[in-house]
Amino acid sequence: MTLRALRPASSDPQTQSASSLGLTTRMRRNRKSDWSRRLVRETVLTTNDLIWPIFLVDGSEARAPVATMPGVDRVSIDEAVREAEKAARLGIPALAPFPYVDPDLRDPVGSEAENQRNLMCRAVRAIKQAVPEIGLVTDAALDPYTSHGHDGVLSADGRILNDETVAILCRQALALAEAGSDCISPSDMMDGRIGAIRAALDGAGFTDVQIMSYAAKYASAFYGPFRDAIGTKQTLIGDKRTYQMDPANSDEALREVEIDLAEGADMVMVKPGLPYLDICRRVKDTFGVPTFAYQVSGEYAMIEMAARAGAIDGERAMLESLTAFKRAGCDGILTYFAPRVAGLLAAAR
Ligand code: PBG
Repeated sequence: MTLRALRPASSDPQTQSASSLGLTTRMRRNRKSDWSRRLVRETVLTTNDLIWPIFLVDGSEARAPVATMPGVDRVSIDEAVREAEKAARLGIPALAPFPYVDPDLRDPVGSEAENQRNLMCRAVRAIKQAVPEIGLVTDAALDPYTSHGHDGVLSADGRILNDETVAILCRQALALAEAGSDCISPSDMMDGRIGAIRAALDGAGFTDVQIMSYAAKYASAFYGPFRDAIGTKQTLIGDKRTYQMDPANSDEALREVEIDLAEGADMVMVKPGLPYLDICRRVKDTFGVPTFAYQVSGEYAMIEMAARAGAIDGERAMLESLTAFKRAGCDGILTYFAPRVAGLLAAAR
């Protein structure tokens, strides 16, 4: 189609000036009204796309705000059950709980992670009993449980030991599955953990427990507020660059995803979210598998703090950022905005 059609110039001077460009195609025509914009919309965000990460803490009737994540609290198990009920009411498919573990229970190898009575396992049991229909996507990683804040076992000479860590992750995954977790979500970035966890689950009869792999997880500055929430900011020794990915890499993300899929991952995740939309798109286009993004704590904080400071319209920024994930090919998003978005979407119907 030619962009400019040759048209005879009108003799009416008014019409002539109004159409002086002689355009056949005017992209704005489809944007002229709400009905038309709705009709040509390519991607739609729905409540079915949301996974809600929540923070757990010991105690009862307890809610403690996370200072760097305004609007987000750590909650005790009874409160977490209420959150699960709220999520179910709103139609949010799944929760992703993360624990703030009592510092006295942390040790160099994260032993508490394997305890079938730990905070996570107790929360999973309580939530599953009260709200069986909600999906529970539970974290397999040692950082909430280690005294040094790493996702794996730290050797005397400062290395994170891969295979030793994977053995512990398998036992952690089994404890979570035993408690009733629907989906294990390893966020540690050790090599070979998906295959090992799959084998461990299958060996124990948990063949229906899914695995959502944090397949392409980057060593990112955007995890800061999360580390406040689970109390690893102060304790973390060094950084995680020997296991999490270099933010400069893209092809490497495809290899990570390919390996995790070959090892048995049911769903894959890219993390963080917005700065890595190009990775989401490549993953979706290359593999065509269920692909998720984690809009991480720092992304949440940026939007929420800017909104509270009056710099941006928070509600619009929240919806725009989540729509961007869908546009980039994601099937769903882990987001701290989940209950607010779900509330807005319900009200809009
Ligand atoms: C660690 C883990 C992290 C997040 C989830 N699991 C951070 C890290 O690697 O230190 C970050 C989530 C967020 O920032 O919201 N296993």
